[in-house]
Amino acid sequence: MEKEIHKVRSIKGILRVPSDKSISHRSIILTSMANGISTVRNFLKAGDTLTTVNVYRKLGIKIEEDKGVIKVHGKGLKGFKEPEDVLDMGNSGTTTRLSLGVLAGQKIFAVLTGDESLRKRPMKRVAEPLRQMNALIDGRKGGELLPLSVRGSDLKGIKFFNEKASAQVKSALLIAGLNAEGNTTVEESYKSRDHTEKMLKAMGADIQIKEGNIYSVSVNRTEKLFPVDIEVPADPSSAAFFAAAAAIVPDSEIVLKDVLVNPTRDGFFRKLKEMGADIEYTNVREKTGEPVADIIVRYSPYLKSVKVSKKEIPSMVDEIPVLAIVATQAEGETVITGASELRVKESDRIKAVVENLKKIGIEAVELDDGMIIKGKQKIKGGYVDSFKDHRIAMAFSILGLIAEEGIKIKDADCAYISYPEFFEHLQNVVQK
Ligand code: S3P
Repeated sequence: MEKEIHKVRSIKGILRVPSDKSISHRSIILTSMANGISTVRNFLKAGDTLTTVNVYRKLGIKIEEDKGVIKVHGKGLKGFKEPEDVLDMGNSGTTTRLSLGVLAGQKIFAVLTGDESLRKRPMKRVAEPLRQMNALIDGRKGGELLPLSVRGSDLKGIKFFNEKASAQVKSALLIAGLNAEGNTTVEESYKSRDHTEKMLKAMGADIQIKEGNIYSVSVNRTEKLFPVDIEVPADPSSAAFFAAAAAIVPDSEIVLKDVLVNPTRDGFFRKLKEMGADIEYTNVREKTGEPVADIIVRYSPYLKSVKVSKKEIPSMVDEIPVLAIVATQAEGETVITGASELRVKESDRIKAVVENLKKIGIEAVELDDGMIIKGKQKIKGGYVDSFKDHRIAMAFSILGLIAEEGIKIKDADCAYISYPEFFEHLQNVVQK
């Protein structure tokens, strides 16, 4: 589906964007390993997280919905059933990588595959350390690409340095560590999102966290996890699109309700503030162990360019495309480096952003590990490609709001992967 977004007068309104994708995935995967029934309120119903629900049902977990509350009937740390068929991971890297950690320590055999994008994404980063733990994983390209097979085995703990600061890798190893002999430790120079360790701790896992120059999480073999009640806050990665829109569209003001502001996730909002945006956290509170706030963003006529470096990337890794959109309106050149991980997301996001910007006449330079965006540019508009990547589709929709002739986006329906209501919500807050 193509979508055309036109220039608008302003953005105004109060919006609760859909729930957090990362926490929603974990609210199924981790609770399926508990002994007993967990409840999940405000579960995200989108492409990726519904993939997780389907996969865990095929692994024998009863997942039901009662008056909008999801109930997960956990069967214990080793209670999964051997699936009768190949497990389809769709477009979801998180489901795939975390599930490799789950399956490595079960007494079953499973085969995982995914869509065209997912079948190209690197799995060695998780398969390799899991093999060091004795996991039996094989697949295409010497065991690096989907389809992958996993035959459960007796695991042993390892110490692993998480070079890429990938939360998916960290999570897979910690999950496998629950079923492994001895201790499993993951260290990071730059802390990646910490929802897995927080949730596991709340569920009674034998887990220790050390903050410091090097962030370290250790887990010992755990006898049992307790069920939990989770309420999922709104996704900061989805809220980022509307925050960006309010910052660059004249005369705008938006209130984004109930947004997760965990410091491992809210780097985009901090960057936007550094750019000079009028942005405020109000009603800061805690919801099932995670910090949450209502975020108010108003139009800022004087945005300035910023630098984004490697250590800042993990806390805004999914927001770089929309940050690039804001950068086109800031004074000076925005330079983003240390972001080579963007090349292996749902699309090559460095290439996708720079190619699309250039295609509509905006000055941008592709770097090996990032990009340079020239600011204060007049946006004429034109035709861009989402590369079937939800975040690219939504980022360029936001640029459409200030484009003289509008922006048409190819395959824009991929937004459903994380935000099925995106275009409807956009329609509700624009003033024409
Ligand atoms: C995620 C971690 C990040 C992020 C992805 C979700 C998670 O990926 O980009 O959208 O839920 O753990 P990496 O672990 O590859 O950095």
